[in-house]
Amino acid sequence: MAKLKSVYICQSCGAQAPKWAGQCAECGAWNTLMEATVTAAPRGLGGAARSGGMAGLAGGSGVQLLESVATEDTPRVSTQLSEVDRVLGGGVVAGSVILIGGDPGIGKSTLLLQVLAGVQAQLKTLYITGEESLTQVHLRAKRLGLPRLDLPVLAETSVERILSVLSAEKPGLVVLDSIQTLYTESLDSAPGSVSQLRETAAQVVRHAKSTGCAIVLVGHVTKEGAIAGPRVLEHMVDTVLYFEQDVGSRYRIIRAVKNRFGAVNELGVFAMTDAGLKEVSNPSALFLSRHDQPVPGSVITVTRQGSRPLLVEVQALVDAAPFGNPRRVTLGLESNRLHMLLAVLHRHAGIALGDQDVFANVVGGMKITETAADLPLLLAALSSFRGRPVPNDLIVFGEVGLAGEIRPVQNGEERLIEAAKHGFKRAIIPEANRPRKSSKLDIEVLAVGRLDQALALI
Ligand code: TYD
Ligand code: MG
Repeated sequence: MAKLKSVYICQSCGAQAPKWAGQCAECGAWNTLMEATVTAAPRGLGGAARSGGMAGLAGGSGVQLLESVATEDTPRVSTQLSEVDRVLGGGVVAGSVILIGGDPGIGKSTLLLQVLAGVQAQLKTLYITGEESLTQVHLRAKRLGLPRLDLPVLAETSVERILSVLSAEKPGLVVLDSIQTLYTESLDSAPGSVSQLRETAAQVVRHAKSTGCAIVLVGHVTKEGAIAGPRVLEHMVDTVLYFEQDVGSRYRIIRAVKNRFGAVNELGVFAMTDAGLKEVSNPSALFLSRHDQPVPGSVITVTRQGSRPLLVEVQALVDAAPFGNPRRVTLGLESNRLHMLLAVLHRHAGIALGDQDVFANVVGGMKITETAADLPLLLAALSSFRGRPVPNDLIVFGEVGLAGEIRPVQNGEERLIEAAKHGFKRAIIPEANRPRKSSKLDIEVLAVGRLDQALALI
């Protein structure tokens, strides 16, 4: 009989340790080491999974010069859902593996069923469910009112059997719902454990690369919102999408966090209706809270998510700190930047908020990570502090430097076009982003080079 051996595997990074410890030595996560039993030759754990990580390489071609490598354009198949195509970078690429994560009930299965129905005319598809019965899938498809119900479906969780079906059927696009329910017969551990996840994903990725069949894997997320299982899962696939939702909202946002075939941070917006997910093609309006009257502490800015400019409202509330211990709270913005901006405001404009609480928020649960929100945030805080509203036909963007200078941001002109499209009449922007004379924009541009110029305008 093969000798049984125990190893401890970190559930967050997949590192192995010979002994249990409270903290993973590789990634520093606490309480993530779990015991796994391996037989003497740790097949899936060592060799297979590691080489699976490299499965993207076709291999065996020998050394070549880069210029002589064939570069036929990767053909893409449209899903007929332009918001999905956008996050994928233009459509589904043959042989690519896409991992999609999201909270339970957010609509992953619904979306993927709609995607399969969309590509059905162009590609042979297969929906494999390990979570729901085929009856449930049928009922959902009926509820969605799909134009055609002749979608091939399969209920199966063994990777070996799934791969043999795929080899026989040769579909062009497969959905595996979900990777956590799959298991391989070569390992004894339970489905969903790290070793099972790594091995099953590696086998699936290898199949996709060798046959050119595109595969979508559904992944569950942990309490913290990351895809459950080791990070290696994200390294193995070509594209990682997250499906997110604002609490209590019917809008869903799908975001690319990794994409070998397109831009990351690309964003698609959907609304959940009683007939499935509907695309929201003009999402700018979602992130504005239309006030009839201009209110203090609210400034509209244009941010960029992937390749899409988006109008969002930055709000600030400045109020006397009751116990001499001022609080700085940010939601959807970086807290360090708020501290920095308040210091710049003090040093270069002589406005001290040291005895004030400052709360900052982005409407609609949006997260802004770029610097273009500096100036709007600063102006929102000032507007709230003074109790004086900023005109509601004004948009603002620009980075604020430590010397009090207003620095340019990328794609200034595109942001102005988006603002003009939504009826904004004036824009305070960095001097270096001033559009060329030739461009005819239906918006009055107030370009500023320094913070005091911007404050003088307000
Ligand atoms: P589902 O796709 O099963 O979520 P996931 O696979 O991410 O767990 O989505 C289920 C939710 O969506 C459920 O709460 C009901 C809702 N829903 C609608 O509102 N309208 C619909 O047409 C469908 C099919 C589902
Ligand atoms: Mg589901």
